[in-house]
Amino acid sequence: MFQRFRRTRLNKNLRSLVRETHVHVEDFIYPLFIRSGENIKKEVASMPGVFQMSLDVAIKECEELKSLGIYSIILFGIPDTKDSIGSDALCEHGIIATAVRGIKSAHPDMFVVTDLCFCEYTDHGHCGIIDEAKETVDNDATLEISGEQAIVHAKAGADMIAPSGMMDGIIEQLRTSLDGAGYKELPIMSYSTKFASGYYGPFRDVAESTPSFGDRSSYQMDPANRREAIAESVSDEMQGADILMVKPALAYLDLVREIKDATSLPMAVYNVSGEYAMLKMAGMNDLIDYERVVMETMIAFKRAGADIIISYHAKEVAKMLLNR
Ligand code: PBG
Ligand code: ZN
Repeated sequence: MFQRFRRTRLNKNLRSLVRETHVHVEDFIYPLFIRSGENIKKEVASMPGVFQMSLDVAIKECEELKSLGIYSIILFGIPDTKDSIGSDALCEHGIIATAVRGIKSAHPDMFVVTDLCFCEYTDHGHCGIIDEAKETVDNDATLEISGEQAIVHAKAGADMIAPSGMMDGIIEQLRTSLDGAGYKELPIMSYSTKFASGYYGPFRDVAESTPSFGDRSSYQMDPANRREAIAESVSDEMQGADILMVKPALAYLDLVREIKDATSLPMAVYNVSGEYAMLKMAGMNDLIDYERVVMETMIAFKRAGADIIISYHAKEVAKMLLNR
């Protein structure tokens, strides 16, 4: 006796009834890159469809996002001036604080997440203060200024803080700093399991954050390590993170599932710039059915256990879902 699996595949409506995984527009967070100026909308060569924007343009963009049903964004700031400690990120009139205030006052119903890191703000492009002797980022010195950065974001009106620098103890530090400043209810989405990945290449063009020396292997994870990947996320759960994340997404879906099973927190995936660029270029060259492959990829994230998808495809997916 064998089972006729094909019985439930023969009819379109029945296929919908037995479908196990669904993608919703509510699953998405859309990244925006803000720089100073007015009326600036500069496309990134390596990421067609992704732009650096001035605040006025970003505010208009939010209008369009809401019309598509996207109500969550994650902001990255590109400052005019960079220095060794990333001072612009610690300034209440810096690019990120200004962007959060501007967007929240124009769109109070938009959920604004801030990426908390220093690599876009430092002249050396690393994710914190450099320890010259060790030629790497000084963990604990970076924790201190990260607490300050979190308060700058919170004061500006951020709805959720997302630390992406892979410093040890960052969640405990941010929770303590935020609670101490009266922001006990402000959630933290940790980039808890983040790998040193070649897939970030195009992002570093748009965020202008390529390290001037070395790479990030002394703080981001080795792609080869599975047990450590789980331990990193579990540690952030114990430190008080509200949402965990695996980044990049596509090459790490095994870990999305394992971390999902090992913790009780909501899980996000970051569908990174290189993943976006690969599909985009393949689609533009008619090598794949672009929309179909994008949707298949989003379903794979959900099936692996992701609750939240941070993706440059979010607007395209929203349109696909509307036209279905
Ligand atoms: C900053 C940061 C990076 C990304 C998000 N936050 C880059 C990096 O760590 O080099 C990558 C996003 C992407 O590739 O789309 N720490
Ligand atoms: Zn960084």
